[in-house]
Amino acid sequence: MPPKTSRRQFARNTAGLSFAALLPRMLGDTARTERIVVRADSEIGLIRPELHGHFAEHLGSCVYGGLWVGKDSAIPNVDGYRKEAIDYLRELTIPVLRWPGGCFADDYHWRDGIGAKRPKRVNIHWGEYVEDNSFGVHEFIGLCRKIGAEPYLAGNVGSGSPRELRDWVEYCNYPSGSTLSDERAANGSPEPFGVRYWGVGNENWGCGGRMTPEHYADLYRQFAGYLRNFGGARLFLIACGPNGNDVRWSRKFLDQMAGAPPPSGFAMHFYENSTKAPTQFDTDAMNTQMAIFQRVEQAIVQQRALLDSYDPQRRTNLFLDEWGVWDNLNITPEQKQYGRLWQQITMRSAIAAGLGLNVFNRLADKLYMCNIAQIVNVLHSLLLTDGPQGRKCVRTTTYHAFMLFKPHRSKTAVRVEGTGSDPLGLSVSASKSASEIVVSFVNPRNSADVSVDCSFAGAAPKQAAAQILHHSDMNAYNSFDDADKIVPKPHPVAVEGGRIRLDVPSMALVTVTLQS
Ligand code: AHR
Repeated sequence: MPPKTSRRQFARNTAGLSFAALLPRMLGDTARTERIVVRADSEIGLIRPELHGHFAEHLGSCVYGGLWVGKDSAIPNVDGYRKEAIDYLRELTIPVLRWPGGCFADDYHWRDGIGAKRPKRVNIHWGEYVEDNSFGVHEFIGLCRKIGAEPYLAGNVGSGSPRELRDWVEYCNYPSGSTLSDERAANGSPEPFGVRYWGVGNENWGCGGRMTPEHYADLYRQFAGYLRNFGGARLFLIACGPNGNDVRWSRKFLDQMAGAPPPSGFAMHFYENSTKAPTQFDTDAMNTQMAIFQRVEQAIVQQRALLDSYDPQRRTNLFLDEWGVWDNLNITPEQKQYGRLWQQITMRSAIAAGLGLNVFNRLADKLYMCNIAQIVNVLHSLLLTDGPQGRKCVRTTTYHAFMLFKPHRSKTAVRVEGTGSDPLGLSVSASKSASEIVVSFVNPRNSADVSVDCSFAGAAPKQAAAQILHHSDMNAYNSFDDADKIVPKPHPVAVEGGRIRLDVPSMALVTVTLQS
């Protein structure tokens, strides 16, 4: 990650070096120059840390084997949690973690995961294997506490009942004295969990019950009507939003909700699919997948505008509850070996993560939370293990992309001028605090180096430090034998007269942190 650079460090980085001398020639003569203006005087909105949220499902080796190995495992663990995973996630800091699904959520009965005797059920969505429920809500809350994440529980609407969800809220949040809260205490947690985020179903247009928007809206109204703010935890109820930019679902849901208390969140899902296996991308496949991020950007703008037309006071916040690259996994042998939807994460995946995170910065005023799918061993993950029993755990390029964007958290996003409308052009976002400006660049082309000349309006930075995540091979990845092949590295940036110059090679993410 771009380390928090002290003024002394900045001075050491830049002392005695001229504008030109600070920039060793790394690009050929064909590199085009992009002139960018960061408008520090034009604010977009707060970049909520929750825009860097995460998601863990009972799917493949995400929970079992990825996060949870059990207390008796030979794999180094802390109270049953895989130690290396905990250490890495704590270092990144995870603002929020959504669980237990996904599709799994609408067939999950929370009582199966509490107490000493836990029933075995079949996970009907992800391979019909036997789920032993050894990881339940206490283990999930324990995980959140260990990594410092706020818990987000996805409730079961598809095969559950209002009573079941109502009871789950009471079990988690009621302080003491009711049978359910006393049961929680007897199960080891006298203090209420204080869970604020509750999903009322997941993808109810699909795996969560194949409902019409009208039917789902009626169920949402019914379920939500029984949920209470126990123990001072003010509930933030999240309704199932559209698949991608499905305006029809959103409109019909919102029409049917007329007169009812609006949900606090409306969650869309948007995956960036491909027909290529993760390590077999070529330029065309990569370009096709990266271009989807322009559609993600449009979808967020349009869905927020639609919500605004029903709810100008913005009582309902827009979530991107699941996002990320979903490559062609039908043909990967790793899935058999390592777990369902286990997807190798390459330099291309990091570029995709960077494009997404840049979109969220630029639309910070429209988004409340975004959760990448998923945190470990499934799809666009941050960490990969060599299977559920494997001892190795690597930080993927996605992890490092999130590290590169971490300095934006809790800053105010500001506008950037000079980037065109090409979905494969240089992607830029910027943010500011009282003492710093942060600018992130993502070059999604695999053969178009860019030299950036960036000026600032409303700020005059004097010192800069940059970090780059880069590999020229889009299919390169951090393997179990070469775990740190692609990691962030310091990158030259020149500052002069309130301007910066830097190179952004093809297939690179660069974050520059500036001080006045
Ligand atoms: O993340 C994998 C699956 O994708 C989730 O279970 C579901 O919500 C979505 O379709």
